[in-house]
Amino acid sequence: MTFKPAEWPRKLRSQHWYGGNSRDTIYHRGWLKNQGYPHDLFDGRPVIGILNTWSDLTPCNGHLRELAEKVKAGIWEAGGFPVEVPVFSASENTFRPTAMMYRNLAAMAVEEAMRGQPIDGAVLMVGCDKTTPSLLMAAASVDIPSIVVTGGPMLNGWFRGERIGSGTHLWKFSEAVKAGEMTQDEFLEAEQAMSRSSGTCNTMGTASTMASMAEALGMALSGNAAIPAVDSRRRVMAQMTGRRIVQMVKDDLKPSDIMTKEAFENAIRCNGAIGGSTNAVVHLLAMAGRTGVELTLDDWDRCGRDVATIVNLMPSGKYLMEEFFYAGGLPVVLKRLGEAGLLHKDALTVSGESIWDEVKDAKNWNEDVILPVEKALTQQGGIAVLKGNLAPLGAVLKPSAASPHLMQHRGRAVVFEDIDDYKARINDDALDIDETCIMVMKNCGPKGYPGMAEVGNMGLPPKVLKKGITDMVRISDARMSGTAYGTVVLHTSPEAARGGPLAIVRSGDWIELDVPNRRLHLDLSDEEIAARLAEWKNPVEPPASGYARMFHEHVEGADTGADFDFLKGCRGSEVGRDSH
Ligand code: FES
Repeated sequence: MTFKPAEWPRKLRSQHWYGGNSRDTIYHRGWLKNQGYPHDLFDGRPVIGILNTWSDLTPCNGHLRELAEKVKAGIWEAGGFPVEVPVFSASENTFRPTAMMYRNLAAMAVEEAMRGQPIDGAVLMVGCDKTTPSLLMAAASVDIPSIVVTGGPMLNGWFRGERIGSGTHLWKFSEAVKAGEMTQDEFLEAEQAMSRSSGTCNTMGTASTMASMAEALGMALSGNAAIPAVDSRRRVMAQMTGRRIVQMVKDDLKPSDIMTKEAFENAIRCNGAIGGSTNAVVHLLAMAGRTGVELTLDDWDRCGRDVATIVNLMPSGKYLMEEFFYAGGLPVVLKRLGEAGLLHKDALTVSGESIWDEVKDAKNWNEDVILPVEKALTQQGGIAVLKGNLAPLGAVLKPSAASPHLMQHRGRAVVFEDIDDYKARINDDALDIDETCIMVMKNCGPKGYPGMAEVGNMGLPPKVLKKGITDMVRISDARMSGTAYGTVVLHTSPEAARGGPLAIVRSGDWIELDVPNRRLHLDLSDEEIAARLAEWKNPVEPPASGYARMFHEHVEGADTGADFDFLKGCRGSEVGRDSH
């Protein structure tokens, strides 16, 4: 931790718009005064952009307009000038073909919104899955002082005396309906019970994972991740965040000071301890790519391998985010990592203090929610990175959500050429499949779907489910919802639509999955694979025009974070010439 605060007072970037009395200044300043701002607000105090992903169609962030008022209050109190700026909001549950296709678009739009406007510091108001990484990617590329405040998770879902988790029970109940164990009417009754309040998914899904990643990286105030959306302490957190960003601007404490290699390693280990989403892999790789930090899939395997999953939350465990908060939340987990020698204690956070200073006094109030290491859900948490002739650039699997008896498995492939082929045939009792088979789906990666949808946790065929079987090995180039579970190999790279070996697998081939040895092997000779690849024709047509075309042309593979090739790196906050 070598950060040295900048001198204060000094001229901030917003003064290039508002400072002095030139014609251009009067144009910038005078027009803003139509909102009734007094003249002395333009005296050089920090202008803080509250970048808000609120949208009626991003229900997980639907309360962020209201929460922004608390952020504003904090900024005023600390002597800043708050301006709320609505930014592109990619809702996980609404955007088609998949919100992931718009993460990079949101990151690009937010980056320009930050750089092109008179903002000295930014509060990133996020929540739903893609909103958190997209704004952090943008902040890393502009590198002005920035701080995350998330909207917080929904309250626990309850249905007939049972805790039900967002997403996790959607998958469970839909399988139960297929297996004849639940009626459609009961499923509909459970629908409302799942979403009891404002907020993000209440499982350790991708939203809670990314909120935890932001905190573990040091980009949010300590304790932010777990506070429920409707708890009064979420509002306090928003106000404290507003206060804090003003001082961060004065100190010139930037993302590049915080998002270091050590911070990313802390986040990866934290992901293992919380049983976090596989989606964190692509998001952290993309964020690191914006900072210039060298982070690879191998770092994920190296750092996560010996981390025990101690947070007993769905989908890997039993409880939900509300209980995680009551148990002490993420600071307890980070403290445990520190005590185990698995935390870079000196890593700097937005508070200006080290991460260890923030968490060293945390207390665990419920050892059934945050487990002792000897009672961990798995001693080998983290994300397993598999390699082999079926995934030369890597594939990922989440051991804490997988079935131990399938971690070493050899099976006959049943191949679906794409998601439509899967949907058309999976419910057919004539499909030649049983629980020993390995389901393979192609063309669901970044270019293939397009956008790399969360379809990798393919539902099992009804005839297998009816035997009481709930898991099979599944392999694809897709992602999986952070709320999902199963022995699911994801992000297989290179993806099929780029001509990766996944493209030439046929039904009847044999595949070996060996998680302990990190191996994914297609039982074919090199010659046979080369011959099939030589005659392979890409079934995926590039979109004719528009954003989809740009996405197809520029998206990189999942193994490096699926960012656009031209968006990598930090471009800083310098603006080109003025418009007048
Ligand atoms: Fe938005 Fe889960 S769908 S947080």
